[in-house]
Amino acid sequence: YSLKNYNTFGVEASAKYFSEVKSLDQLTQILRNTSVQKFDLLFLGGGSNILFTQDFNGVVLQLNLKGVSERILNDNEVLVTSQAGENWHEFVQFCLNKNYGGLENLSLIPGNVGTSPMQNIGAYGTEIKDTFVSCKVLNLETLNVEEFDHEHCRFGYRESIFKREGKGKYVILEVTFKLTRKDHVIKTEYGAIKAELNNLGIENPTIQDISKAVINIRQSKLPDPKLIGNAGSFFKNPSIPIKEFLEVQTKYPQMPNYPNGEVVKIPAGWLIEQCGWKGKQMGNVASHELQALVLVNKTGFATGKEVFDFSTKIIESVTEKFGIDLEREVNVI
Ligand code: EPU
Repeated sequence: YSLKNYNTFGVEASAKYFSEVKSLDQLTQILRNTSVQKFDLLFLGGGSNILFTQDFNGVVLQLNLKGVSERILNDNEVLVTSQAGENWHEFVQFCLNKNYGGLENLSLIPGNVGTSPMQNIGAYGTEIKDTFVSCKVLNLETLNVEEFDHEHCRFGYRESIFKREGKGKYVILEVTFKLTRKDHVIKTEYGAIKAELNNLGIENPTIQDISKAVINIRQSKLPDPKLIGNAGSFFKNPSIPIKEFLEVQTKYPQMPNYPNGEVVKIPAGWLIEQCGWKGKQMGNVASHELQALVLVNKTGFATGKEVFDFSTKIIESVTEKFGIDLEREVNVI
């Protein structure tokens, strides 16, 4: 079964078996099936953060549970619960249409709601951990439904329990966020948002204006996976101890940096660009010409292996030049 249409990189890979899952009942039925139990399982959401480097010799289940519900808590707060299979951006737009605030900075992020907690998706000064309340998960060992609250998820930068101790143990079924109904917190600290609002001539932005600004920024820099295969940022922005940063800074005084407690975060896009990779193409793969951190399936014919090998070359040259090790953000299969 071809997975080409189920990964935004658009690379060819096949699964032995594939099924779309539309309900919890259907999911547990499949998981109780003893012939399924003989195989490895892979759960797919929007396929926007995954790179297949080989065929998957097992069962791929694409989670397509749909539905959104809401519960008004008081004058200013509402709980909104989305099933895992809802498209993230459509969910954000649904909330904005109701004038519910909190997710506007996360507009246009590819993928589904169900995978958003995995890597605590974030952009333009916001992460989902800022509004996340809880999620319902299916425990794959017991097949019981459990509820994980905020603390239990152990969110960090592009991190959560689902990428560490809980990896492969749970399927996220639904996610609940607490959003504002009137006293919205407008986040414009991120330089690019301020600049875009200026461009648009907006002085007192609404949450809908913030969303518009974010959409404009993303569309101007990030390739649309529908047109050119990619999985957003391919690497995480590395954090290094202050001491190491001060050393490397003497050699590269213009290095952008975001101090954060004991560590300093460096934009990987800058490091990659400085190594000469921005816009560079090898075979079917390239680093995006407007944002070096994003690797693209430039011709549409790239294999996952090619993308992976290209990323290894980038990691090696960044280590060689700066002594900083980049870590892949995408899930490599
Ligand atoms: N930069 C370069 N060259 C490049 C790209 C970036 O020099 O080719 C420099 C920029 O000049 C800027 C800095 O790097 O000073 C930061 O760039 P940008 O604002 O584009 O953000 P980023 O750190 O590269 C992160 C997220 C993005 C998110 C943006 C905006 C990660 C791994 N990536 O990128 O997330 O949209 O911030 O908040 O943290 C994603 O995860 O898929 C993703 C797109």
